[in-house]
Amino acid sequence: MIKGVKGAPDILPEESGKWQALEAVARDVLDRYGYGEIRTPAFEHTELFVRGIGEGTDIVEKEMYTFEDRGGESLTLRPEATASLMRAYMEHNLGAKNSLVKFYLIGPMFRHERPQSGRFRQFHQIDAEAVGSPGPAVDAEVVALLHHLLDAWGLQGISLHLNSIGDPNCRPAYRQAFVDYAEAHRSGLCPDCHVRLTKNPLRILDCKVQACQQIVAGAPTIAAYLCAPCRDHFATVRRLLDGLKIGHTVNERLVRGLDYYTRTTFEFLNPALGSQNAVAGGGRYDGLVEEIGGPPTPAIGFAIGEERILASLAAGQVRQEAPSYTGVYVATAGAEAFPAAFDLVQTLRRYGLRAAVDLEGRSLKGQLRQANKDRCRYSVILGSDELARGEATLKDMVSGEQRAVPLGEVVDRLTRLPEREFV
Ligand code: HAM
Repeated sequence: MIKGVKGAPDILPEESGKWQALEAVARDVLDRYGYGEIRTPAFEHTELFVRGIGEGTDIVEKEMYTFEDRGGESLTLRPEATASLMRAYMEHNLGAKNSLVKFYLIGPMFRHERPQSGRFRQFHQIDAEAVGSPGPAVDAEVVALLHHLLDAWGLQGISLHLNSIGDPNCRPAYRQAFVDYAEAHRSGLCPDCHVRLTKNPLRILDCKVQACQQIVAGAPTIAAYLCAPCRDHFATVRRLLDGLKIGHTVNERLVRGLDYYTRTTFEFLNPALGSQNAVAGGGRYDGLVEEIGGPPTPAIGFAIGEERILASLAAGQVRQEAPSYTGVYVATAGAEAFPAAFDLVQTLRRYGLRAAVDLEGRSLKGQLRQANKDRCRYSVILGSDELARGEATLKDMVSGEQRAVPLGEVVDRLTRLPEREFV
């Protein structure tokens, strides 16, 4: 038997309801904040991610699914959505009508990481971006939107970590000070950090190896190096969040794994999730559009890991509503009644109801058991005697009550009566 690819799990029908509910809430909240949906392709020219995400990053160096297509072009399955969205923003001139444009994307991302609990090779993100304004109010609104989403899903016990990593004016000096410090402690760093030291030194800040963390604890921090505009920007973001009573911790080690960030970076962490505890992350990336060939365009956004949200909910922090009973099961007693049942179920579906009928010739008892399993609110029982009398039996699957109804009224009743008040 050919199995699915490791780290790329299937989402089965019994789970997909949760995904739909999660995404329905997200769409509703995003809409309230003025975000429109964009769907970009799952692959792009490799160059877009190399330039956008940055050559020295783990994603570009080790994790991309890159392939040559039959025309000899190098393409890559998107490891994240931001670079694709900025490509689409430029290509379709989305900034032409409004100076500030907000949009979101929901879909699968692909990274060749070592699969483990909470880390997949195909995973799903809800990504939102606000493009066109450099002002700190946008940062605060973006964080508030993310906070609102997590709250709307009922997530609890999560914390917001916030940092400013400066901009091209002030970061180089900090970077140099950090490199000098790390060089002096080189012998204590892990082998990966030796490589980072030459390629992407600030990534040493979030290395998980304990020896490195100890060294990092004594390293110079960015706050002392921020230029006045960056410092003011960060202070305003924090003040606005305080005004909204959105609690946060300033974490000067939060540099994030993508090169495009400037100024504000943030993550929401759920400690209950163990090592893969970031449920969402993002930041400002004022230089990315230029990096991929566009005009200077300030922007900020975030992406939420849907698997990690669902894992947080399943960890018992939030009571999941039991799926409600909806829809109709059309059951038959005797094979002669099947054509009428088959017709009725189609009619009910056309009227907008969720309706099911047995296609496998099971007993009436077996069919009603199925109706319960499917959590149908009602069943309609058609037997040959009843059909001869021009009647059907309507059964409330929750209360167990049932009654005979003229056949001609079945559709009318089921479509017009509110589901909860039938019997
Ligand atoms: P990221 O931090 O790489 O940011 O990913 C965002 C979220 O996606 C993570 O916090 C995590 O929940 C989830 N995630 C990432 N990798 C995996 C994985 N292998 N398995 C399961 N979940 C994962 C970005 O992707 C940026 N594009 C976010 C952004 C948008 N920044 C600005 N705009």
